[in-house]
Amino acid sequence: MSQRSGIAPHGGELVNRIATPAQKAEFLSKAEHLPRVELDERAFSDLVMIAIGAFSPLTGFMPEADYNNVVPNMRLANGLPWSIPITLSVTEAVAAPLEIGSLVRLDDNTGRFVGVLELSEKYTYDKKQEAINVYRTDDEKHPGVKVVYDQGNVNLAGAVWLLEREAHPQFPTYQIDPAASRAQFQAKGWNTIVGFQTRNPIHRAHEYIQKCAMETVDGLFLHPLVGATKEDDIPADVRMRCYEIILEHYYPSDRVILGINPAAMRYAGPREAIFHALIRKNYGCTHFIVGRDHAGVGDYYGTYDAQYIFSEFEPGELGITPMMFEHAFYCKVTKSMATTKTSPSTPEQRVHLSGTKVRELLRKGELPPPEFSRPEVAAELIRAMQGNT
Ligand code: ADX
Repeated sequence: MSQRSGIAPHGGELVNRIATPAQKAEFLSKAEHLPRVELDERAFSDLVMIAIGAFSPLTGFMPEADYNNVVPNMRLANGLPWSIPITLSVTEAVAAPLEIGSLVRLDDNTGRFVGVLELSEKYTYDKKQEAINVYRTDDEKHPGVKVVYDQGNVNLAGAVWLLEREAHPQFPTYQIDPAASRAQFQAKGWNTIVGFQTRNPIHRAHEYIQKCAMETVDGLFLHPLVGATKEDDIPADVRMRCYEIILEHYYPSDRVILGINPAAMRYAGPREAIFHALIRKNYGCTHFIVGRDHAGVGDYYGTYDAQYIFSEFEPGELGITPMMFEHAFYCKVTKSMATTKTSPSTPEQRVHLSGTKVRELLRKGELPPPEFSRPEVAAELIRAMQGNT
């Protein structure tokens, strides 16, 4: 009997754009003479995501034909679903001397040589159209839109190579790249795996929807985003400690894998939910949790817009199954977590939870109540906040 070898990556094959030792030596020998482009934090994490296959089938920064289909239609030029433009946007001054067909040296924002771009195209683009289509607003106060407006007017396209896959400076043991997560799922004998995206300290609504999902799948891939987030989000190291603490006390250790997602947050709500799902498909997940206001910010998106957008694709087309959850709250009647689907409560009998509320409480120096956060997690958050002041 053939064994299930796991879900196919998006586009069929897991991309690997990490330079071999021989390639690396060649790039290093040329480095002095190559034109340079400096990557900001987001572009660097995009480079990494491409290289490790998390953005499969992308092998580089998007050419114009992909960009022009992704922005309005959520599809690559070949029709494959893809919801977020992955671009290397630079100023005209930076782009002008670069020659099509040449190799460009990519440095990180500290000037370290981290990769190369095989420059195939340079093109200008319409920032307002990108904002309206991808972020559903052209308000420059939206953190994702602001990045688009602040970046250069020219997109550089082409395949990339990451010079070396280095250990994560903060979370080396949780750096589980797509090939490794796939191998781990297989080693555990898991056929169905639910991925969970988060950028907040874990609270009880997160726990509730994860555990509801865990009732029907083989394993949970707890996959917090640790790339760039907006300034008032809780730092990744604090969040990681909270995940470790909650896993130790409240989860079955053999049914959860904690790994980091090195991507930058875009706050694109519905579009980002699709993007997040496709990334988790590349990591080998078969299912993906989408709760209330997934990847949202402020009031830009409706509570369930990030769920509705999945119906814009044909069933099965994305290749990963969304598991959608209503707004979860603590129900004072049943003294448990619930949603309106399972709770007999009136609105006054509900304690609503969100990452934003937890952040507000912490800022005021108040301990999130047990209906909000597990006490061990709340204690860690307060400890971290006090350490920061
Ligand atoms: S996100 O920007 O990464 O989506 P967050 O870490 O707050 O933010 O959310 C992680 C996941 O949990 C998302 O799928 C989100 O929709 C879901 N979620 C967060 N809070 C709730 C809640 N109270 N009820 C249901 N789902 C929630």
